[in-house]
Formats: sequence, C-alpha cells, structure tokens
Amino acid sequence: MKLLAIESSCDDTAAAVLDDGEVRSSVVASQDGIHGAFGGVVPELASRTHVRALVPTIERALAGAETTLDAIDAVAATCGPGLVGSLLVGLSAAKAIAFARRLPFVGVNHLEGHLLSVLLDRPVAFPYVALLASGGHTALYLAEDFGQYRGLGNTRDDAAGEAFDKVAKMLGLGYPGGRAIDEMARRGDPRAIRFPRARLKVRNGSRRLDFSFSGLKTAVWLHVREHGADTGAQPDVAASFQEAVIDMLLGNAFAAVRQSGAERLVIAGGVSANSRLRVRALAEGADLGIEVVIPSLRYCTDNAAMVGFAAFHRLRRGESDPLTLNASATLELGR
Ligand code: KG4
Ligand code: ZN
Repeated sequence: MKLLAIESSCDDTAAAVLDDGEVRSSVVASQDGIHGAFGGVVPELASRTHVRALVPTIERALAGAETTLDAIDAVAATCGPGLVGSLLVGLSAAKAIAFARRLPFVGVNHLEGHLLSVLLDRPVAFPYVALLASGGHTALYLAEDFGQYRGLGNTRDDAAGEAFDKVAKMLGLGYPGGRAIDEMARRGDPRAIRFPRARLKVRNGSRRLDFSFSGLKTAVWLHVREHGADTGAQPDVAASFQEAVIDMLLGNAFAAVRQSGAERLVIAGGVSANSRLRVRALAEGADLGIEVVIPSLRYCTDNAAMVGFAAFHRLRRGESDPLTLNASATLELGR
C-alpha cells in the first residue's frame, strides 16, 4: 500500500511516500530563513509559505519515490496540534487529494508521529516510555501499543526546545537556536555556572514527572544581564544551560521508566537531536540497565515520514477519518 503523507504543523513543509510502512522518500522544506529575522515563527508567514512550498514538496516526494499520484492508495496529513493556519494548508491539500481520487484519508496527531518516529529506523518492542521534547511540547508517555499512549507527565510552562530557542536569542544566536546552543556548548564547561533544576514535589510516594523550564530561563536571563551576552564566557553559559535542561529531562525520563515498569526509553522530538543529550542518555541508560533508543537525526525534527508511519498503522487497524475532520491547535494525545 502506497501512502502519501503531509506535515505542516509549524514551520516545516514536509511530504513523504511510504510503501507498506517503509519510507520511500521524505522531503522537508524548512522555513528557517524566513522566521530568523523575527526571532520566532510568525504564524501568518508560516501558513503563506506552506501554501507556496506544498505542491513542489509533494512533487519532490513523489519523484523521490519514483512514483506518481496515480499509484497512491491513501493520503495522510497532520491535523494537530500546531499552528492552525499552518495545519490547515497540509490538511486541506490531503483531503482534496483524497476526495478527488476517492482515497482513504487519515488525520494524524503530530505527537503520535514523534512517539513512533524511532520505529522508522528499527523495531522497538512495546511497552516503552517516550520522552517527547520539541519546540512545542515536553512530555512523557507510556506507549503500550500502536494507538495506545498514556500521559505520564508534561511541562507546566515552556517546552524544552522553546527554552533552547529563548536562550539562543538572549545570546544573539538567532532562530531556531537549539542547534546553535548545541554547537556552542561543545566549547564550554557544563559545570561553569550552577543554574537551577526544577524538581517538582513528590506525590503519593512517587516523583512527579512534570517539567518546568521557566525558572531556568529566568536564571540564564539574569546571568546574561549581569555579565553581558557578548563575552568569551558564552560557551560556558550555553553548556551550563544545556546541562541543566538535560538533567531535568533525563531525571524524569529514567524515573518514569522505573515507575512504569517499562524496560526501555525512547527520546523523540527536535531536542532529541541534541548531541550532548544523545551521548548522556545512552551512557546513563547503560549504567541503569535501561535500553535507550533515539531516532536518527532526520527523524528527530519535524518530518512527514513519521506522520505516514502513524497513518499506516491506523489504516492497518481499519481506521480512517472522514473528510469533515478539522485541524485542532490543541489536539491531545493519550489517556
Ligand atoms: O520537533 P520539532 O522539529 O518541532 C516541533 O514539533 O516543535 O522541534 C523543534 C525544536 C526547536 O525548539 C529547536 O531549537 C530544537 O527542536 N532543536 C534542538 C536541536 N535541534 C533542534 N534543541 C537542542 N539541540 C539540538 N541539536
Ligand atoms: Zn514536532
């Protein structure tokens, strides 16, 4: 079964072709250059850019898979959560193709795409704990099977990626800033500045698995205000900030594995591309006897292959969606 998948929930226009769940092509047209000057994604600009980029991106995905629309058996698109104007572009296109060609249509939860993205690289047995850390979300789930996800914890304020982006802005590193911090931190000392780590209170004898990054963000801001952003100490600020984020992410993620009784941890979403997070997660998992799996870099950040993969498994279970399905900015995942 050949499936065309579209992802347009934020500022990347992406299309992919999958054949029986195997990726045949995956194309991502990034809008990084467009929003950089504004220090963050401008929703109206994002949706207009999706309109311009979508058809060429779909054409590149079809060509990359050496196929045409005539051979496509089903169409999928992200229907939420995300920027509603951005979501509507990809979703409307997918529904239009499905309607015109009388094909089954699937609307995919973007978060489910991220949670399953690691399975594009290799098989991972359920159940697993998934840490999803991206620009819009930072949450922990127990993935029990395809389509069965239980929420274990969430951020109370910012997402981890958002904190990376804001600190990058304070340091004048541009947008999006996660990768720039990652690179700069390699030259810094992660123990140079002791930034605070939020640890939420214990509840019913077990640790709370929620996150909070706003105190850390304020601490970095105060530090930069006091010492100035434009000094040789920048790599130390980047490394010390990054270390604090990773401590909080991994502390809760490994606690979630222990509390849930699962044996493995999956880390997904844009922040899982972070080189220090990847190294530390694998090393600490090995020490704790917990298997840690992280997607290859191309599947960490937003892409349509993960959307197609989630859609394929819904179709396999006999599920599809009506063409009346709407975009939802705040779509949730799991019980
Ligand atoms: O998953 P994603 O592409 O989009 C959302 O669904 O939000 O995640 C984007 C986020 C951005 O905040 C970006 O700064 C962050 O992931 N990111 C990183 C790295 N690469 C991307 N954060 C830390 N280190 C990285 N190497
Ligand atoms: Zn994402």
